[in-house]
Amino acid sequence: MKTVGFALLAAGKGTRLKVDIPKALCPALGLTLIDHVILAIKSFTHQAQIPNELSVIVGHKKEEIIDYLNTKKYGVHYLVQKEQRGTGDALRSYFSERPENKRTDYTFVVCADTPLIQTETFLKIWKKFESEPHLNAIAATFKLSDPKGYGRILRAASGFRIIEEKDASDTERLISEVNSGFYLVKTSYLLEQLDGLDNKNKSGEFYLTDIFKTNSAVEALEFKNPQEFLGVNTLEQLDEVTNILRRRKNSTLMNSGVVMYNADSIWVDQEVSVAPGVHLHPFCALYGKSSVEQGAVIENGSIIKNSLIKAQAQIHSHSVIEDSVVGPKAQIGPFARIRPDSDVGEEAKVGNFVELKKSKLHKGVKVSHLSYVGDAEIGEESNIGCGFITCNYDGREKHKTSIGKGVFVGSDVQVVAPIKIGDKSFIAAGSTITKDVPSDGFAIARGSQTTKEGMAHRFLKAKK
Ligand code: UD1
Ligand code: CA
Repeated sequence: MKTVGFALLAAGKGTRLKVDIPKALCPALGLTLIDHVILAIKSFTHQAQIPNELSVIVGHKKEEIIDYLNTKKYGVHYLVQKEQRGTGDALRSYFSERPENKRTDYTFVVCADTPLIQTETFLKIWKKFESEPHLNAIAATFKLSDPKGYGRILRAASGFRIIEEKDASDTERLISEVNSGFYLVKTSYLLEQLDGLDNKNKSGEFYLTDIFKTNSAVEALEFKNPQEFLGVNTLEQLDEVTNILRRRKNSTLMNSGVVMYNADSIWVDQEVSVAPGVHLHPFCALYGKSSVEQGAVIENGSIIKNSLIKAQAQIHSHSVIEDSVVGPKAQIGPFARIRPDSDVGEEAKVGNFVELKKSKLHKGVKVSHLSYVGDAEIGEESNIGCGFITCNYDGREKHKTSIGKGVFVGSDVQVVAPIKIGDKSFIAAGSTITKDVPSDGFAIARGSQTTKEGMAHRFLKAKK
């Protein structure tokens, strides 16, 4: 079995992006550019059953890239290109920093800034190489009506060469066939060619593209779908590729039975799972590692981050849910905010202008209007009136509120934590509760009312 080493180029400065983060880590549908490329490589080697090693060549802002990729546990090697002297120089580091790479049969060169690449494309390049063993190298190419910025392909009777935009003449710039930056090369040929590279060009860089020569056994393999080779060099291109990724994800979901109303307005991150039969309404956004179970509905403008929405839950419009769980058939919003570490039980209801933080609502609890529930646990079937507040913070520390099962809390009640309210108790409207209430207790804590008949108009007159 032949072995393949992957050289994933991620050392470049990405100057044209004009942002402070390394290009490889630019966000793309909840992942980064380099994640998409690594996932495509992994899926290719898995499908084709190829023994492989993946090395990421880092340089500019290398610590950030390494720290990030370590959290992903992809099992890749990091090789440092000390100075960014071009893609050819990056490949030299690939071999000098890890000499084992010289022992692979083939080297697949991949750029970290082309996140749309697909498994099938790797497979096609691989099959071409297998079927034509005399070839030393293949470059994947495609045609663009506006080829600006890419290396142009100069085909010859045999072989071809690549001329970079900066070095091209006006007529060469008219060539629409361009270099994708994806190459499969015999490792022995690559080593031989790297020795001979020079940097006599407008950029003063060592171009990897110079390994392709006329009158030699190299092939430019043209692909008809230019989209997946789109590289990210500018923020506009980052937006363009992200939108393509987003549409791909949405198509996959719709084809599996997820109903999307105006799919183009809906954002679902790459790693979010959405079950068939879920309805997603316009302008909702599902981020991170969220998961939405069968039959749930997410209405207009709601935002779900790293949360689990269980079967048939309804998230009414303009609600924001973060790092939380919403139980089966629960109802949230409209205009509710569920902050991290909350758990809303089955058939529970969290209505408009309610904020939850680190709180657990058991089955059937209702907090229907204008309330703040923080650091609290509320037992089954309790009903919390309008304008309820857990006073959980004393200026220094946060304290817990515990409310039992079947409790009735009237409107405009504040409970000063730490506090315990027993099962089936009753808290009268307008109370400020500072002491624990036992089960079945009735608590009322408000000033008693005075009414003076016929006083209103006299009172107002006195004011004038
Ligand atoms: C490169 C190709 C060009 C091709 C285009 C496709 C060369 C000389 N040109 O140009 O023909 O059309 O990709 O997108 O190869 N990198 C390093 N070390 C360096 C320089 C770059 O690791 O010293 C990495 C970058 O991080 C990036 C990749 O190599 O992932 C490509 O570099 P970039 O500067 O984007 O090359 P292009 O100018 O786009
Ligand atoms: Ca590029």
